[in-house]
Order: sequence, then structure tokens, then C-alpha cells
Amino acid sequence: MKIAVLPGDGIGTEIVAEAVKVLKALDLPLEMETALVGGAAYEAHGHPLPEATLKLAKEADAVLFGAVGDWKYDKLDRPLRPEQAILGLRKNLGLFANFRPAICYEQLVHASSLKPELVAGLDILIIRELTGDIYFGQPRGRRIATDGHFPGAEEAFDTMRYSRPEIERIAHVAFQAAQKRNKRVTSVDKANVLETFQFWKDVVSEIGLQYPDVALDHMYVDNAAMQLVKEPKRFDVVVTGNMFGDILSDEASMLTGSIGMLPSASLNSSGQGLYEPSHGSAPDIAGKGVANPLATILSAAMMLRFSLNDEASALRIEASVKKVLDQGLRTADIHSAGTTRVSTLEMGDAVVRAL
Ligand code: IPM
Ligand code: MG
Repeated sequence: MKIAVLPGDGIGTEIVAEAVKVLKALDLPLEMETALVGGAAYEAHGHPLPEATLKLAKEADAVLFGAVGDWKYDKLDRPLRPEQAILGLRKNLGLFANFRPAICYEQLVHASSLKPELVAGLDILIIRELTGDIYFGQPRGRRIATDGHFPGAEEAFDTMRYSRPEIERIAHVAFQAAQKRNKRVTSVDKANVLETFQFWKDVVSEIGLQYPDVALDHMYVDNAAMQLVKEPKRFDVVVTGNMFGDILSDEASMLTGSIGMLPSASLNSSGQGLYEPSHGSAPDIAGKGVANPLATILSAAMMLRFSLNDEASALRIEASVKKVLDQGLRTADIHSAGTTRVSTLEMGDAVVRAL
């Protein structure tokens, strides 16, 4: 199996190194090739997603991705910003279905900013549509200047747009995921204001008729944001558009104690996938050895499960992560009194030992 390893910027290189270490320890027939992406690729080749990197990703069975972005690129013209690398990969590989599970490990119940009883046993799955919506609407805004700002401009705009097939396919993904879980789907929209999301709601309802064993309800995004912190366990599968999913998945991550714990999988229709932590490049803590590699290690587990069809190895990694948490090992983001603080590298080593 061929894996394209794209560490990217900031803490990306540190956390991906630990996930690669864990994958190597499994001793599977994996061929891993690394390439530059994001700001690192811009520095070296003048583009955040060089042709060679895209080619490597397209030809791989799966992509293991770190994170991209740094404040120092804020002034770059939009097509050259590091974020365009991940958006370009998603679009070029057709990775429309983004799985962002939010699971609260019992060892981390007290690391959440919410009361323990609200998050204990939490296991929800946010399914975010990833290649449509306002992120990819046409036109994608009008650039007046190339320095990242709009001197003299009177307006800027982006368009929100979804087509029927785009909504249908993500709805199928959500209903099928729910069938393997607690058989409930909450579709999040803003149908009270936006045409795009009235259409979304109608199409999801239509597809829902094909899944009579799954209970479907609809929720406005503002209410969903509130319910996520009020009563998060009421949710099972949440399906929503690209923009709302971006925001709600960051919110959901804090229920679990730390965004440093959240893996993600982005799949296309042929099962090829990109696996990345749900968090960003965190330039403020980059290079200090304090980042939590568990989200990336858990993303590698999702990669084994979804793209490489190796459920046993995925479960082994997940069990090892639970074990190191049981041992009381914590990176800075999840550290609390009575636990042992470890570095990024020590956390990776501990997972390998647990394997
Ligand atoms: C995410 C990130 C990206 C997004 C950025 C880096 C483009 O926030 O994966 O959630 O907005 O999708
Ligand atoms: Mg985000």
C-alpha cells in the first residue's frame, strides 16, 4: 500500500513524525513517501501544492496529512496561501466526505471545559461535506490587490452553492454511517434564511426516505451550536455543509478535552482518503515538542480502517492510545494534576511501546 506523507507546516512535522513511527512499528507492507505541502512547499517551490506533491497524493492509496498555515503567509495572495494546499487536495482528489468523530475518552472527562456528566461517554460523529458550499462557490471573490488586502474596494463576496448530487451523496454517507451506530442523523442547516440550505434540507429529507431504520431530524446551525454545549450526548451523527461543519467540528472538539485528540478522515467515492488531525498548524507552539500527536496517530488508525481495510491494526492503535492515557501520560494540552506530562516525542514512543 502506498501512503503519501505530507507533514506541512508548524506542528505538522512533529506530529506526523510520531504517526509515521507508530505505522512503522506495526510492520505492515506500507510504502511511505514524504513531500512538501503548504508554506513549506511555497518556500521551496513557490507554490503551496506543487505538481509533484499533488501527483504523489493522487497515486497513493491514502494521504497522511499534518497541518498547513502560518501567520507569516497572511499577506500572500489567496492562491498562494498555505490553506490552498489542503483545499486543492480535497478538490482534486474529490474528498467530499469528511468524518470528524468527537469521542470523550473516560480518562479525559475532566480535561473538557464542560461538566464531566455532560461529556462522559460522549461519542458523536460529525460528517462535513468537504468539496462544495461557500468554500468553493463561483466566483470565489474578487481580488483587487495582490498584497492580501483590498485597498479602495467597496465590497467582496463569496457564493454559497450546493447541487443536488453533492447533497445526495453526503446524505447517503451520513445515513449509512448512522446505520452502523445509533441510527440517528441530525442534519444541520440554516433553512430559515438561506436558499442553499432550504434545498439542502429538502434533499436530505428525500434521501432519508430510503433509510426508514434511521431517525432524521433537522436543526438550524445556531441552535446546533448551542445544543452541542448544552446537551452534546443528544447527537449521534451530525451531517452538514462545508462551512457549518468547519465551525461545529472545532466546537465539538472541545467537548473531548482537547482538539489535540481529534482525528479526521476525508474520503472520495473510491475509498481513497486523506487523514489529518482536525486541528491546525499551531505556529505558536511549533518546534517546542509540546504538541499532542494523538489526533494524528488516531488519524493513521482511521487510514488503516477506511483506506487500507485493516480493521485489526486500527483497533490496535486505538487500544494503545487508551493504554497510554490509562498510564497517565499527557501532553501539555490535556495535562492536569496527578498525571505525567510528556513531550510530543515521548507520547509517540509510549504509543509504540503500548502496541
Ligand atoms: C479544517 C481547517 C481548514 C478548513 C483550513 C485550514 C482551510 O480549518 O480542516 O477545518 O477551513 O477546512
Ligand atoms: Mg477548521
